[in-house]
Amino acid sequence: MAESSKTATLTIDGQSYELPVHSPSAGPDVIDIRKLYAQAGVFTYDPGFTSTASCDSTITFIDGDKGELLHRGYPIDQLAAKSHYLEVCYLLLYGSLPSAAELEHFENTITRHTMIHEQMHNFFRGFRRDAHPMAIMVGAVGAMAAFYHDSTDISSPREREIASHRLIAKVPTIAAMAYKYSIGQPFVYPRNDLDYAANFLHMCFAVPAEEYNVDPILARAMDRIFTLHADHEQNASTSTVRLASSSGANPFACIAAGIACLWGPAHGGANQACLEMLKEIGTPDRIPEFIARAKDKNDPFRLMGFGHRVYKNFDPRATVMKQSADEVLDLLGVENNPILATAKELEKAALADDYFAEKKLFPNVDFYSGVILEAMGFPTSMFTPIFALSRTVGWISQWKEQLGDPQMKIGRPRQLYLGETVRDYVDIEKR
Ligand code: SDX
Repeated sequence: MAESSKTATLTIDGQSYELPVHSPSAGPDVIDIRKLYAQAGVFTYDPGFTSTASCDSTITFIDGDKGELLHRGYPIDQLAAKSHYLEVCYLLLYGSLPSAAELEHFENTITRHTMIHEQMHNFFRGFRRDAHPMAIMVGAVGAMAAFYHDSTDISSPREREIASHRLIAKVPTIAAMAYKYSIGQPFVYPRNDLDYAANFLHMCFAVPAEEYNVDPILARAMDRIFTLHADHEQNASTSTVRLASSSGANPFACIAAGIACLWGPAHGGANQACLEMLKEIGTPDRIPEFIARAKDKNDPFRLMGFGHRVYKNFDPRATVMKQSADEVLDLLGVENNPILATAKELEKAALADDYFAEKKLFPNVDFYSGVILEAMGFPTSMFTPIFALSRTVGWISQWKEQLGDPQMKIGRPRQLYLGETVRDYVDIEKR
C-alpha cells in the first residue's frame, strides 16, 4: 500500500489526532485507525462492519451503487458470457487471464485431483442418510486435513498451491457424494474426459445401471452458475476464512469454516430459503400478502433473495442468472414454470413498491439461482452446497492473498463492554 499524504483529523476531548487516509484504485478512501487505540485510548465501533475495511485486496471489487462486480478488473457479465469457471479460477488465483498453455496445464492439474481418498467414503457412511448435505460438506472438507496432511504447511508456497488445487478439484466430488448419499445411491467417481461442470452433473445424476450423457447446454448453464458465485470481496464467509487463516489454521479447516458460515439463510443459505419461499407463495395472487409481511416491522419475514449489504442497485449476477433461467427452462421444455412466473411477478411487485425502492432492495444472486437448479433436478438442500463449491476458489484466493501479506496479524477485534464492573464473589448462603 502506497504511503498516504492525506490525513483525517479526529478530535476527542479537545485533543486532535491525525489519521492517515489511504486511497484505493477504486472505491472509497479508508481512514487508517491501526494506531488509534495506542494514540487516543479509544476503539471504533462497527458491529456488522458496515463501514469497516478489514484488509486490502486486489482480487474482487464491487461498486454497489453502479451494480458492478469486477474480478481482477474484468466485469462479471463479460466473464459469464466469454470465460468459463476454471479460467475464472485461474484468474482469481493468479491475477491474470491464462495463456492457452497455462490454462491447459491448470485444467489438467485440477482434473487429475478430483478423486478423493477412498477412506473418506467410510467417513461419509457415518452420517445419517437424512443429514443436510451442508452438514456433510462442513465435516468432510474439514476432515481433508486428516487425509491430505502433506499440504497443510501454510509456510510452504508449494503446499499452499497443492492444497488450493486439491480443494478446487475435490469439493465438487464431496458435494456430489453428499447428494448421492442423501438419496441412497452409490457414489459416482469423477471422469477425466469431462469438463468441470459436466463432471459435477455426471457425479450427481449418473447411475451405474445406464449410460448418462451430460447435456452440453446444461453443463454450460452449470458452469455459468459456478462463475457467478466464485468470489465477492469480504462477504461473511470470506471474512470467516480470513479470520480462521489469521491464526495459522490449515487450509482445509479454514474452508470448512467458510462453508459453515455460508450455510446461514442471510448468506448462502438464501438460495434454498428463496425457493422454499417461492413455493410457499405458490401463485402470484398471494404476492401482496408476502410483500406486506416483508414490510411489517413486527414480522421477522424477509423476502429471501432480496437485498444486499453492498448492492444498492441490481446485483449484476442476478441479471445474468435471470437470463440463464429463461434459457435453461426453455431448453428443458419447462415452459410457464410456475415458480419462475411467481419469481418474476414478485420481483416486479417488490420493485414497484416504495418500501423496497426507498431501502434500495433489489434481487440478489440467490433470487433466481434456485429456479434453475431445481429445473436441473437438484433438491433445495443441494443449492447451498453448489454455492459453496463455486465459492471455494474465492475463499482460497483470499486465503492465499492474506498469507502473502507481510502485514498479516491474527484478527482479534475488541468490544464495547456493557456488562457488570468488578464485584466480589458472594457465598451461596449469603445470596
Ligand atoms: C449473499 O455479502 C455478500 O457479498 C454476500 C453474497 C456473496 O456473494 O457472498 O452476495 C451472497 O449472501 C446474498 C444475500 C442473500 N441473503 C438474502 O437474500 C436474505 C434476505 N436479505 C436480507 O436478510 C438482507 O438484505 C441482507 C442480509 C442480505 C443484507 O442485510 P443488511 O445489509 O444488514 O441490511 P439490513 O438488514 O440492515 O436491512 C436494511 C433495511 C432494514 O429495514 P430498516 O431496519 O432499515 O427499517 O432493509 C430491510 C431491513 O429490514 N431489508 C429487508 C430485506 N433486506 C433488508 N426487508 C425485507 N426483505 C428483505 N430481503
